Amino acid sequence: TPKPSNKMIEAHDLLRKFYHHLLVNTKEGQEAYDYLIGRGFTREVIDEFEIGFALDSWEFVTKFLTKRGYEPEELEKAGILVKREGKDSYLDRFRNRIMFPLADLQGKTVAFSGRILGEGQPKYLNTPETSIFSKGKILYNFHRAKKHIRKNQEVILLEGYADVIAAHKAGCFNGVATMGTALTEEQAATIKRNVENVIICYDSDGAGIEAAYKAGQVLTKVGCTVKVAVMPSGYDPDDYVNQYGTEAFRGEVLEASLTLMAFKMRYLRRGKNLQNEAERIRYIDEVVKEISLLPRAVERDHYLRQISQEFSLSLDALKQETQQNNRFEK
Ligand code: GTP
Ligand code: MN
Ligand code: MN
Ligand code: MN
Ligand code: MN
Repeated sequence: TPKPSNKMIEAHDLLRKFYHHLLVNTKEGQEAYDYLIGRGFTREVIDEFEIGFALDSWEFVTKFLTKRGYEPEELEKAGILVKREGKDSYLDRFRNRIMFPLADLQGKTVAFSGRILGEGQPKYLNTPETSIFSKGKILYNFHRAKKHIRKNQEVILLEGYADVIAAHKAGCFNGVATMGTALTEEQAATIKRNVENVIICYDSDGAGIEAAYKAGQVLTKVGCTVKVAVMPSGYDPDDYVNQYGTEAFRGEVLEASLTLMAFKMRYLRRGKNLQNEAERIRYIDEVVKEISLLPRAVERDHYLRQISQEFSLSLDALKQETQQNNRFEK
């Protein structure tokens, strides 16, 4: 008999193909298909990412898979079915949703994320943690992106599935995303094993900016060189590509990425009135502290000069400040 994990992966494999078939070939999937096309998804990316559709039914998948010899108990453990409260029967977890297959680092489908059509909560419903799916370990699209990441010597880290797919439409095949959670050290280590250079391209809203700052810290810790791409306020990469086109995304967003330090300077500036003396000094203190953590003397010198010019401060004084903080020169 096959290992339980193999059986779970087989079930996911079958279901992924079935969901995709429902989306692209059936009358029931038409509304979802039109929704995706209306949002700028092309037939090409729908096929490439094997996007699918879960019918508006409580037991379609339950029947489909049990007829093919899978035990409901196993399917529940795999996160595909949900046990009815206090009963011995099961329901489909995903109903009336657009289905994004989630693969492990090797490319085996181990989970799904289902998006509601239009507005509603939860916007995305994920497979819970199972013996084959741990959302802090996998990176969306990693298995497809890997060869491009290595070839380009660069990875683009995005926030959502739709953003990875928008980047793909723009010819950037080296995009990956987390599952809507903060980047973990384990995910950062996976990135570092394959590439040093990372462009973080998160949503340009409060949450995205905070998350970009944190992801920058985690990636720096594992030894990556990080840049941060910024977009007009309120946009995410998917919105941006659909509004301004693929060339603008590559040229004005990705190629214009800021170094992590330049991004941090912007970040620390947020909400401060630099005309106010006390706030200005606090800003300078915070920036100098960040500068003193940079490992390379050339970089420290570069940013200190920038601060020295911007605020008419003596470079010597700033250097003394950083030397007090600097762990590399002690
Ligand atoms: P679209 O609205 O389809 O373009 O999605 P988005 O990727 O722009 O969503 P958003 O920026 O709100 O969230 C980023 C990512 O967080 C998504 O791609 C999901 O992975 C995750 N996410 C968002 N909403 C939910 C939710 O309600 N539940 C869960 N589990 N994850 C979510
Ligand atoms: Mn197809
Ligand atoms: Mn977001
Ligand atoms: Mn978004
Ligand atoms: Mn979006």
